[in-house]
Parts: sequence; structure tokens; C-alpha cells
Amino acid sequence: MKGKTAVIVFSITGHSHRAASQLTEMLDATLIPLHAPKYTSGAFGYVRAAIDSLLQRCPLGPQSFSSLAEFDRVILCGPVWTSYPAAPLRAVLRGNFCLPASVSLFLTTGGRSPATKVFDVAARDLDRPLVACASLPNDVQGTGYKAQIYDRFVADLRTGESRMNKSAPAASDTFKASSG
Ligand SMILES: Cc1cc2nc3c(=O)[nH]c(=O)nc-3n(C[C@H](O)[C@H](O)[C@H](O)COP(=O)(O)O)c2cc1C
Repeated sequence: MKGKTAVIVFSITGHSHRAASQLTEMLDATLIPLHAPKYTSGAFGYVRAAIDSLLQRCPLGPQSFSSLAEFDRVILCGPVWTSYPAAPLRAVLRGNFCLPASVSLFLTTGGRSPATKVFDVAARDLDRPLVACASLPNDVQGTGYKAQIYDRFVADLRTGESRMNKSAPAASDTFKASSG
């Protein structure tokens, strides 16, 4: 797949970090961890995560990047918290990081129920559709199903981007339309 890809990851217990590493390898991407010590420091981290998630608060301190404009494709990877994307992921979706046209979401989950509503929340935060979405339950680690989830996500990414590129007007068309 062509293009410069960033996989932005937030993980407390390592599931999302493993998933993000896999995606980084598959897509020849740059892996960028989100820094949110509020949630990763000890047992209270889980409590803070649950409370912020339930209240839909998404604080995010300074990161190693201020803009993602240099990338053609961004994939956010992290856990589901209280039926929402984890707060640090929501902060990026809602924030002013100059996200490219292609933004996708890869979630890890404790349960097996479909994450459709979680994807809808993320698209609302972003204020536009996500190109591809997937969720990886913790208990499929080490099974063939896990590989299927990755492969399907990458295929959906490719299909979604080519659909997006076909529907986007070429710069010359935009000029013709605006110049009358
Ligand atoms: C505060 C909190 C809330 C969670 N809520 C959910 C949930 O609503 N649904 C679910 O399937 N898993 C839930 N989980 C489980 C995580 O989504 C799952 O274990 C995930 O793989 C953890 O990713 P990580 O290891 O990258 O932190 C929750 C975990 C935490 C810490």
C-alpha cells in the first residue's frame, strides 16, 4: 500500500500495543504511542479511565507530535472503555492535529460483542466517516481468527481509500467549477 502511514496507539495492558505493532509491520507504518500517564500509573489509572470514559471527558496532555499533517493515512489503535473508544483516542479524533483524509480505527476489546456503536461514536468525534474499522477481542489472540481480522481491516482500508479517492473531485475539477 502506498502512502505514509501513522499508527497512533494507546494501551494500558499491552493488547492494543501488540495490535498496533502488527499493523505497523503490515502497513510499513510509523508507530506513535500516545502519552497519557493519568491512566497508566497504577490501579487508580483504571478508575480514572472508567470515570473519564463514562463522563466522556477526553483530556490529553502534550504529545510527541502537534500535527499529523505529514501522514497520508492515520490509524488509531486502542481499547474500548465503558463502550466508548478509550479517552486518549477520542482526544485525537476531536483534537486539532491536522488529521489526513484517511482516518481508521482498530480497537481491542475485553468482550466479543460487536463494536458498531463504538465506531459510530468515533465517527461523530471525527465529524466524518472513518475509512476502516475493526475490533479485536482479547480472547482471539493466538487463533486463526485474529489473522482474519487484520487482513480484513487492511482490505477494508484499501477499498475505502479507493472509494474515497474516486469520489473526491480532482483539483482541476474544483478549479473549473469555482471559476465558472
Ligand atoms: C476502564 C476500562 C473499561 C473497559 N470497558 C470495556 C467495555 O466496555 N467493553 C469491552 O469489551 N472491554 C472493555 N474493557 C477491556 C479493554 O477494552 C480490553 O481489555 C483491551 O484489550 C485493553 O487494551 P490494552 O491492553 O491495550 O489497554 C475495559 C477496560 C478498562 C481498563
